[in-house]
Amino acid sequence: MRILTIESTCDETAAAIVTDSFEVLSSVVASQEALHQEFKGVVPEIAARAHVQTILPVIDETLKRAGLSLSDLDAIAVANEPGLAGSLLVGVVAAKALCVAHNIPLVAVNHLQAHIFACRLAAQRDVFPCVGLIASGGHSNLYCCQSPLEFEPLGGTIDDAAGEAFDKVAAMLNLSYPGGPAISKAAENGDPQAFAFPRPLLKDTNILDFSFSGLKTAVRYQIAGQGQVDFSELNLSDQTVADVAASFQTAVVDCLVGKSLLALKRTGLGVLCVGGGVAANHLLRERLQHACTEVGAELHIAPMALCTDNAVMGAIAIERLQRDLIEDLSLDINPGLRRIGGVT
Ligand code: KG4
Ligand code: ZN
Repeated sequence: MRILTIESTCDETAAAIVTDSFEVLSSVVASQEALHQEFKGVVPEIAARAHVQTILPVIDETLKRAGLSLSDLDAIAVANEPGLAGSLLVGVVAAKALCVAHNIPLVAVNHLQAHIFACRLAAQRDVFPCVGLIASGGHSNLYCCQSPLEFEPLGGTIDDAAGEAFDKVAAMLNLSYPGGPAISKAAENGDPQAFAFPRPLLKDTNILDFSFSGLKTAVRYQIAGQGQVDFSELNLSDQTVADVAASFQTAVVDCLVGKSLLALKRTGLGVLCVGGGVAANHLLRERLQHACTEVGAELHIAPMALCTDNAVMGAIAIERLQRDLIEDLSLDINPGLRRIGGVT
């Protein structure tokens, strides 16, 4: 079986062709980074328009690289939740049109489940049940994942996502977008103890939630005080930028690692799977490895190429196909987190 998977939840237009034995025949990711750079964050309207322009060329290129044509496909899968409404719509409409034209099944993909499934793909074996940590630009959530398709929420951010905090702090420091890689690079020359930024909710062992908004504000106050400020005119020294980046990054990583360990303890599970763009962070990867070794837990972090948004992780569609979970043309987008079937 060959399945075309489509991903357009945020600012990457991606497609891949995977087989029912999880072989990846081709994968294409068209990033919109250059379009959003100027705004230091994703502009939803620009993202949706760019998806419209890019989706068919990306699908064509994916087929070309696999040496296949649309008539060789057995199904098409598309991420329909959660994400930006306009972005999701483009992928879902494209998938529906191609399914109708070629009379093949349509499969829905939950983007968050897909981020965790990236760990399953890399491990090349079952990794469930596990605790799942998804840390990305839009989400910072912990789940008890009984199976690839059964996620029970354990906790999540009560305000900003971790990646969003990276992006906003990078903007304050006049670093490039996306902020995660830029902060990580700047932090290489910085002292992680230079500034004592808060670790919100970390000491509260009753909850598995995150909060990154106050941490972001603490950085702002540290570098610019409380009044109105034009960050482009701050003129911070390279060393200060490096120290802020290192101290901020360590604070975020402390929170993500601390709550992940707490989730393992709380659930009694011995496996932690980590996905999403922030999982590409080297310090987070190192610290999680160290922490899991200490408590004897098995750790699976998505490989770098599968941390940020991609369509390969849409191979989770195979799990749905195997359970006859096929959609009809009434398939809708579900941008929010609260109403996702079985996942909140
Ligand atoms: O998963 P993703 O591609 O898109 C969403 O679903 O949101 O994640 C993008 C986020 C951005 O906020 C970006 O700054 C962050 O992942 N990110 C990182 C790193 N690489 C990307 N954050 C920290 N360290 C990194 N190396
Ligand atoms: Zn994502």
